[in-house]
Amino acid sequence: MGEAGRVVVVSGGGTGIGRAVAERFARQGDRVTVLGRRAEVLRAAAREIKGAHTVRAVPVDLAVPEEVERAREELPAEIDVLVNNAGGRGGPSPAGGLKEVAEHWRRVFDSNVMPAVLLTEALLPRLARPGGRVVTIGSVAALRGNGAYGAAKAALLAWNHTLARQLGPRGATANVVVPGYVAGTGFSGAPADEDELAARRSGTLVGEVAEPADIAAAVAFLASPEARHITGEFLNSNGGAVLGR
Ligand SMILES: NC(=O)c1ccc[n+]([C@@H]2O[C@H](COP(=O)([O-])OP(=O)(O)OC[C@H]3O[C@@H](n4cnc5c(N)ncnc54)[C@H](OP(=O)(O)O)[C@@H]3O)[C@@H](O)[C@H]2O)c1
Repeated sequence: MGEAGRVVVVSGGGTGIGRAVAERFARQGDRVTVLGRRAEVLRAAAREIKGAHTVRAVPVDLAVPEEVERAREELPAEIDVLVNNAGGRGGPSPAGGLKEVAEHWRRVFDSNVMPAVLLTEALLPRLARPGGRVVTIGSVAALRGNGAYGAAKAALLAWNHTLARQLGPRGATANVVVPGYVAGTGFSGAPADEDELAARRSGTLVGEVAEPADIAAAVAFLASPEARHITGEFLNSNGGAVLGR
């Protein structure tokens, strides 16, 4: 499905879904760079991921503009596929006054919107080759509510429309993969016990919870040459837990 030898950048590529995405591209012969804040976690992942080329690790906090500018110097001069996967819950909902509410919402937007927006803005001029792809990881929370986190993920869907308009004239696309619950990631926390897994399974139509590799497969499709006519879209991958229209 892919086109081996492309230059791929994956944010949050040291763990969970991002790591599965990095593994998938590395396996098909692409040149992969992974980004994340924890240098040791990132470098260990880069060493462990097997592929035709060495995976590069560039530690950076993608919510901080100055850090993104610095990291840009270490990133490839031409990029074929950018996967905006970095994100997280941004902490528990606040119990307190408006100051705490404001801090919480800012933190959640910093965690989920800024990494995608800043990294994409920084790399946009480098996505100049035909067939460029930006794939962003959203969440079913954007369709369900889920407070600040759902709102931040919904913001990514709106932003993706603008991005698709910008990229279209270059023959490049921008899409969002929207996972439901995915087991075995830093986000989903400690491994779920059998009761939780059973509840999660029964909340889907297919009776299975997703693994990171399932989300990586959806990313690989949207990044492939075959998906050249799909842009400005989002693709649910949640086992039927939430149905689209
Ligand atoms: N797991 C699920 O059930 C689920 C469901 C729907 C959507 N998602 C979304 O999937 C994406 C990946 O999450 P995951 O489930 O794979 O959890 P994860 O293992 O915690 O992955 C998140 C990755 O993002 C990196 N990251 C977070 N903030 C960053 C920042 N400011 N700068 C650079 N890197 C940053 C983290 O590395 P560092 O901490 O080292 O920076 C980590 O590698 C997230 O956007 C999440 O919202 C997950």
